[in-house]
Amino acid sequence: MTTSLQSGILAFGTRAHHYLEFDLIDGAANADASAAAISAAGPGLTNARAATAGASIVVGFRSSVWASSGATTGAPPAGLGDFETLTGPDGFSMPSGQHDVWVWVSAAGPDDALDAARAVAAALAPCARLAAEQSAFAYHDSRDLSGFIDGTENPPVVESPGIITVPDTGGTIVFVQRWVHDLAALHAHPLHEQERIIGRTKADSVELDDDARPESAHISRVAIEDDGEELEVVRRSTPFGGVAENGLVFVAFTRDRDRIDRMLRRMVGLDGPRDALTAWSTPTSAAYYYVPPAEALIG
Ligand code: HEM
Repeated sequence: MTTSLQSGILAFGTRAHHYLEFDLIDGAANADASAAAISAAGPGLTNARAATAGASIVVGFRSSVWASSGATTGAPPAGLGDFETLTGPDGFSMPSGQHDVWVWVSAAGPDDALDAARAVAAALAPCARLAAEQSAFAYHDSRDLSGFIDGTENPPVVESPGIITVPDTGGTIVFVQRWVHDLAALHAHPLHEQERIIGRTKADSVELDDDARPESAHISRVAIEDDGEELEVVRRSTPFGGVAENGLVFVAFTRDRDRIDRMLRRMVGLDGPRDALTAWSTPTSAAYYYVPPAEALIG
């Protein structure tokens, strides 16, 4: 069977986003519950698309949910598993917030995104309960709320399927992590210091020269080369929140979980200095999900 990535993964340009996470009512290890959630997801996607013009929906499943659902869906990628809380040598911690099903809705506006999110939640309601949700939005020209452009080093869209598709499954892996910012702490630094924290200029995202960029700069921590080849992922993060609380829903697709794990270890200080952005942004939850090919959900 020819397979294709769920199309919303690379549907750039939408400005309103809504993320939902569910726990299966009968537990992730229950084969019937897992199969029910997976078979509800297909009609859920169809209903959601019917509920609104132009919404994109991407659905992911906890590795154990996909594995326990039976042979018809194929195996999840080897070694995927859950995200376990990761703590650095100074106690800085990235807590897990693993759930069973992840849904990402994106649309032109928040009304369409909400309609689609409600339709998916209604389809899953018999077998899964909503555990977490976050609405989010595109901020100006793809900027994080810190003001820095986010996504500059993403690979070109035409190359992305080859970079993120897990061989033999046709699907991909997503890592989702919610970060809460303390923008006052960031903005207490003069501009040139903020730029040294990220490793790029703020106005136009030009990479700082090696000698101007500390080892603790964000891009120094997450740009990793193996045998001269950069370990690429595709990031689709979006900002959320308002005046009192705000941050970033970090979303990255990969064919190999190890790439993300290595970036996270370097960010918490397990492999070199801790990432300077962790002085003003705090992760509140994180999870891994298998995002099967579209054909596995809607036939
Ligand atoms: C508060 C959370 C985060 C913020 C505000 C943030 C922001 C940024 C910014 C502004 C850039 C530079 C522009 C670009 O290439 O997109 C960047 C690059 C990047 N970030 Fe993050 N990021 C965050 C978390 C993460 C996490 C958790 C990971 C990995 C798991 C990550 C992986 C990357 C990668 C791979 C790059 C490209 C590096 C390169 O090749 O130059 N980021 N991020």
